[in-house]
Amino acid sequence: MEPPKTTGPQDTLQAPSTVAPFFELNGVKLYQEDCVKGMRDILQPGSIDVVVTSPPYNIGIKYTKYDDIRPRKEYLDWIERVGVAVSRVLSDKGSFFLNVGGTLKDPWIPLDIAQRMRETFVLQNTIHWIKSIAIPKKDVGKYENIKGDIAVGHYKPIGSRRFINDAHEYIFHFTKEGDVELDRLAVGIPYQDKSNIGRWKKAKQDLRDRGNTWFIPYETIWDRETQRPHPSTFPVSLPEMCIKVHGLERARTILDPFMGIGTTAMASLRLHKPCVGFEIDANYLQVASDRIKKFRSLDLWERIKHR
Ligand SMILES: C[S@@+](CC[C@H](N)C(=O)[O-])C[C@H]1O[C@@H](n2cnc3c(N)ncnc32)[C@H](O)[C@@H]1O
Repeated sequence: MEPPKTTGPQDTLQAPSTVAPFFELNGVKLYQEDCVKGMRDILQPGSIDVVVTSPPYNIGIKYTKYDDIRPRKEYLDWIERVGVAVSRVLSDKGSFFLNVGGTLKDPWIPLDIAQRMRETFVLQNTIHWIKSIAIPKKDVGKYENIKGDIAVGHYKPIGSRRFINDAHEYIFHFTKEGDVELDRLAVGIPYQDKSNIGRWKKAKQDLRDRGNTWFIPYETIWDRETQRPHPSTFPVSLPEMCIKVHGLERARTILDPFMGIGTTAMASLRLHKPCVGFEIDANYLQVASDRIKKFRSLDLWERIKHR
């Protein structure tokens, strides 16, 4: 089905709706609702500029409410319907960042999902979320700042004779026509070799495009129950980088249809952007609400301190 064309962002958060949000504060609205229904009933067409999300991967993760094992076809049909619903609410020059991973035994999952989005979206960029990386000093070249071997980040170690530890997931960047201009230097990195600044025509400042391999480690935690009470989250920096690379000025409203414990909302708050999210599980939404309230108190305290 051809997705409806839209004219541009409208006021998402003023959408006529009889559904009361589970939580609302500082431009963040969270609904306890199935995302396909929520996007259809609550959001206006074309009202969202950036979607950052990670759906269940259908790999048997133990969520408290959602059953993460369904027949593959049924699962993929559903994911396709999520894509169509996202397309309806996304503005014509909007970005849809879809984070997915597979398992070592079933590595096709993310690629099957991407394939199902093909009818609805153009795959404009494929970003690799690197959770852990090892860089031996001998492979680096002459970089003064790098003094020794590097091995950083976290992953779930496996004991196997046939598989290598999985330290990566995909972030598919889908757009409607494949022509969305990005702000690449918003997530740029400083040149190692400063003599490049000025030598290359485009290198006017000490920043270069970091490419499509993004090293984003999980924040180190001591107690999963209290610090990250959800089996499958992404770090706040992941949605933050997606929103920035889309372009902060053009990212007026952010959406996460699978909000979990509110990571995308936290990134939106950091960037002072309105955000809307759907999640079926009230326990996760409660954690999200508490995180947002805590962030707000700290943010207010920082502002008062620096007055
Ligand atoms: C991979 S997790 C997302 C985690 C999130 N990125 C975070 O960092 O907290 C997927 C979430 O989707 C939720 N979910 C499953 N089916 C849903 C549906 N139909 N509508 C909305 N949320 C759903 C699950 O409860 C789960 O919390």
